[in-house]
Amino acid sequence: MALSLDSKPGQKPGAPYLPYSPSVEQPAPDEHVVFDELSRTMQHITRTMAARYRNAYRPVHAKSHGLLVGTLTVLPSLPDHLAQGLFAKADSHPVLMRFSTNPGDLLADNVSSPRGLAVKVLGVEGEMVPNHAGETTQDFVCVDADRFGAPDPAGFLKQIKLFDKNLNVSEGAKHVVSVTARAINATIGVVGLHSATLEGIGAPAVHILGESFTTVTPLRYGRYVAKLGFAPASESLRKLTGESVDLGDDYNALEELIKKFFRHETAVWDVKVQLALSPNPEADEKSNKFPIEDASKEWPKDDSPWQTVAQITVAPQDTYSDARELFFDNQISFSPWHALAAHQPLGGIMRSRLKAYEEAAKYRAQRNQHPHVEPKSVDEVPA
Ligand code: HEM
Repeated sequence: MALSLDSKPGQKPGAPYLPYSPSVEQPAPDEHVVFDELSRTMQHITRTMAARYRNAYRPVHAKSHGLLVGTLTVLPSLPDHLAQGLFAKADSHPVLMRFSTNPGDLLADNVSSPRGLAVKVLGVEGEMVPNHAGETTQDFVCVDADRFGAPDPAGFLKQIKLFDKNLNVSEGAKHVVSVTARAINATIGVVGLHSATLEGIGAPAVHILGESFTTVTPLRYGRYVAKLGFAPASESLRKLTGESVDLGDDYNALEELIKKFFRHETAVWDVKVQLALSPNPEADEKSNKFPIEDASKEWPKDDSPWQTVAQITVAPQDTYSDARELFFDNQISFSPWHALAAHQPLGGIMRSRLKAYEEAAKYRAQRNQHPHVEPKSVDEVPA
């Protein structure tokens, strides 16, 4: 079933919301050792792929499909618990959106795999996290899920090492696994390959523009803690939710689907937040329904529904010009650590991403000889 961020009719927002304080995080001892190893493994993937393609791509989510420019508008008169950080005042900002799929290689789109959406908000003012000081962007890096495949960085390291080892599994084998898994509607495990080996290949072949995406992992939401998500709002997008598509023979079928849509249509996404609720003081950490350090648990929507704080509108445009591809794939990067202090990423998985994303972007810029740009204005983005 497709991920949905809809709430039930008449559902009331949950409370009391978990107040943000540094103590919501509980770093593991010596976790930086795991972070370094994660970053090294990502580097190995991206370098192996650069040797194959003669150009460096992202070590995961290498293949982009749609590169959009739109406008994010914060809703007016939000209640205090939602009017936080970037969403504190009813403002508009230019946004860049990059749709991608999970693998580190540039597979044909009929090898279906989980999808990513990275959003960069421009013209953002306010105190940034220290590594992003002086910049004016806020990124949200999302996938089409509401929980992560591993609880913590050590768990993810095991998976990504397996993936690294299997980089040379042929595209033909990946295609067979993808089709088999789709046909029997099961995980890759049943056909004898560890899912991490093939990065969740076998995801349903549905229209990418009908999908919802979330940060999966938490971030500070001003005085509170939340996950953030993007969900189809306009009828033009909602009618695509769950729509089966033929990823057939076209190597870049997803790029074509997005291009075709934006030839004439306008899209509107809701920007939503799901606030963490305070744990019962008598319950132990394991029974906390809104854990910060365990990324593998879905936060229950029945207790705290997704609430809309803004909308993104994207008008008809060319979503994959050569100049745009060069700019999005080579010159800019997205990272959860491109953030306001008010939206500091939280939890072990988020902490591990700081170094991995920085190092990956640095290598790409150096290997491809394209200095990295953090855009100040939408005029820098090619048409
Ligand atoms: C330990 C956890 C993780 C590590 C080490 C990691 C690492 C990375 C790295 C190194 C990149 C490439 C960045 C670049 O070169 O610009 C990347 C991209 C990406 N990651 Fe992660 N990641 C992790 C968890 C996640 C999670 C939880 C999500 C989902 C919310 C996610 C979604 C994405 C997406 C969508 C991209 C592509 C961004 C773009 O379009 O530029 N990652 N990841």
